[in-house]
Amino acid sequence: MATVAEHYENLLADYYSWMFGDFAGKVETHHRFFFVNQIQPTKSGLAVDLGAGPGFQSIPLAQLGFRVLAVDLSRRLLEELHCRCGSLPITPIHGDLMNFTAWGEAPMELCVCMGDTLPHLPDFESVTLLLEQVYLSLEAGGRLVLSFRDLSLELHGTDRFIPVRSDADTVFTCFLEYESNYVTVNDLLYTRKEAWELNKSSYRKLRISMEWIVEQLEKAGFTLHQRELTNGLVTIIAGKPEA
Ligand SMILES: C[S@@+](CC[C@H](N)C(=O)[O-])C[C@H]1O[C@@H](n2cnc3c(N)ncnc32)[C@H](O)[C@@H]1O
Repeated sequence: MATVAEHYENLLADYYSWMFGDFAGKVETHHRFFFVNQIQPTKSGLAVDLGAGPGFQSIPLAQLGFRVLAVDLSRRLLEELHCRCGSLPITPIHGDLMNFTAWGEAPMELCVCMGDTLPHLPDFESVTLLLEQVYLSLEAGGRLVLSFRDLSLELHGTDRFIPVRSDADTVFTCFLEYESNYVTVNDLLYTRKEAWELNKSSYRKLRISMEWIVEQLEKAGFTLHQRELTNGLVTIIAGKPEA
């Protein structure tokens, strides 16, 4: 099985944005989400995007006035982000999000870890540790936004085959295998060259439930401002209380 970094390098990074289709639409959706939830700079203006990928959250946050540190393990996705972000104040940082304090610009006003990055962490202890570190690194009144897929409910039989996206030259399918705490994600990518070629790679995701993450956030000291589970996607806005 590949590590997360290998999986993105060998298969996913080159097709990540393609999987979602409309890049500008995805940026616009997040822009609206941040705007509606009044996530705009009022303090230091520093935002840290953990697992930034190609910038679906970093770009709208910078458009809204934040200075963004965009942390990711994938050089290819950070290069794409760099190409797409123009003169917006976004600094791509290649590294493990568990070490985000090493880039040392705390305290930050906002931390986001969105679009299913959290389940990429190796174990539940890492998630708990990350939440504790984020809490310590936030300004009083600062906020944390999380979104991830709730994999706690198990799919069975052929429902475990997920058609991700296809076009005339590319077919992306995913097959899920469940263990008690993890799901093995098998990505199958067919691309049409002279003939159809198959590239396949697997990695593991954590099965994080909304109840568990809420408990961990509260233990770390956060106040819950919003929690939502829609179409299997958990979205949470939590805050560090004002001093
Ligand atoms: C599912 S993507 C989410 C990207 C983006 N936030 C979005 O909404 O599409 C997960 C991202 O997290 C990155 N990632 C996973 N584990 C990481 C880690 N330990 N440190 C830094 N980045 C990580 C991956 O390289 C990938 O870009």
